[in-house]
Amino acid sequence: MANKLNIGLFGFGCVGQGLYHVLNNSSGFTSNITKIAVKDKSKPRTLGSDIFTFNKYDILDNPEINVIVELIDDADEAFEIVKYAIQKGKHVVTANKKLVATHLQELYELQKKHNVSLLYEASTCGSIPIIRTLEEYFDNEQLNKVSGIFNGTTNYILTKTITDKISYQIALKQAQEKGFAESDPTSDVEGFDSKYKAIIIALHAFGVFAKPNDVLNIGITTLHDNDIKYASEKGYKIKLVPTIKHTDNKVSMYVLPKFIKQENPLFFVENEFNGVIVEGEFSGEQFLKGRGAGGHPTGAAVLSDISALSYEYKYAFKKLNQTLKNTIDNNIFIKAYIRYNTLINLEVLGADQIFEQYTGEDYHYAVALVNINQLLLQRDYILKNNLFIAELGEGVSATVKKSIANEALEISQAE
Ligand SMILES: NC(=O)c1ccc[n+]([C@@H]2O[C@H](COP(=O)([O-])OP(=O)(O)OC[C@H]3O[C@@H](n4cnc5c(N)ncnc54)[C@H](OP(=O)(O)O)[C@@H]3O)[C@@H](O)[C@H]2O)c1
Repeated sequence: MANKLNIGLFGFGCVGQGLYHVLNNSSGFTSNITKIAVKDKSKPRTLGSDIFTFNKYDILDNPEINVIVELIDDADEAFEIVKYAIQKGKHVVTANKKLVATHLQELYELQKKHNVSLLYEASTCGSIPIIRTLEEYFDNEQLNKVSGIFNGTTNYILTKTITDKISYQIALKQAQEKGFAESDPTSDVEGFDSKYKAIIIALHAFGVFAKPNDVLNIGITTLHDNDIKYASEKGYKIKLVPTIKHTDNKVSMYVLPKFIKQENPLFFVENEFNGVIVEGEFSGEQFLKGRGAGGHPTGAAVLSDISALSYEYKYAFKKLNQTLKNTIDNNIFIKAYIRYNTLINLEVLGADQIFEQYTGEDYHYAVALVNINQLLLQRDYILKNNLFIAELGEGVSATVKKSIANEALEISQAE
């Protein structure tokens, strides 16, 4: 790999401009942005017109450019750009989680075949160096779980609605005004964004390739005042928490709102901040917190990847290449709070053990064991019926489900 980096940049929006600023204000590292590709010819630019191009091949076919930094907001076009660049033997840095998660296995094979480096630290939890931490520090230790708050927009909305008691709509508008939320916030609030990040983390933490359609994501769109009241009466905060868990070479993963107690470090992760908890077999629990979005924090993560290229850094994917392979298995049960406004059959959610149930006039809830695979199958039903589902406690495997349920029943009878 050439140590002199000639960069072709795609995108000069929030992150592209953030990177440009961070790059020009960083000491000890120089690199050269040769050309910047953008889309809208009528947009005023903060740099001279010479540096911009509207033709991607001006960058992709330029033999002087050996590094592509991809920071556009269109995942399909980004995939075409990244694929073409890798096939041309160029190293790539990207911040696009949807692109990476959707094509993870193909991109892994491509970078291997063409012997180039593909780095994507900024795609996952903004400024938190989670990919490099998993790759470099936890490369050999077996991990039991990685979970956290991976999305700044939803965390901002939940902080404002729960702690500051402002409405969901106003909180969302504020997040958009502050540049955390996109004009179409669906990917954030329905948990897709968190799911893409969980898929990327699952590869580096557990060596598995998960497909987005096979991973459950339930977001915060159905959150109701009654859910907030239930949670706060019991001392919980509500956070959107992706969980990737490992037991006996099986990896389960899902994105769900979760009721969090004060003992959990995520309780204190507020506003646009992200937090990641890594649980190692021997090292125990580690907690990383940082800004999950914004031009400068994300630009700083992109700069770190560019800088890593200068010393020929590549991901080693050690967890993928370990002898004992992990497989994905979402046939697990979790304890969950389920709120429904019209009476439903809870068996649809695989809820065969109910610990607590309340039936009011237009507000009902149950606390039950539910099956992750079943929730995935019933995602449309859950959204159509406006159910709010939040995890309580930790996931349990199907085999130990019965004994835990019986234990819980004994406790509730004793009470
Ligand atoms: N914003 C964040 O806090 C954040 C955090 C982590 C990761 N990311 C990821 O970083 C990437 C960029 O996000 P952003 O917030 O910077 O987006 P943005 O502000 O909307 O900017 C997007 C940029 O991409 C350019 N673009 C779009 N389509 C293009 C094409 N076909 N060819 C060339 N340029 C094209 C746009 O050009 P014009 O200027 O001509 O419109 C614009 O400069 C996304 O993948 C996002 O998921 C963002």
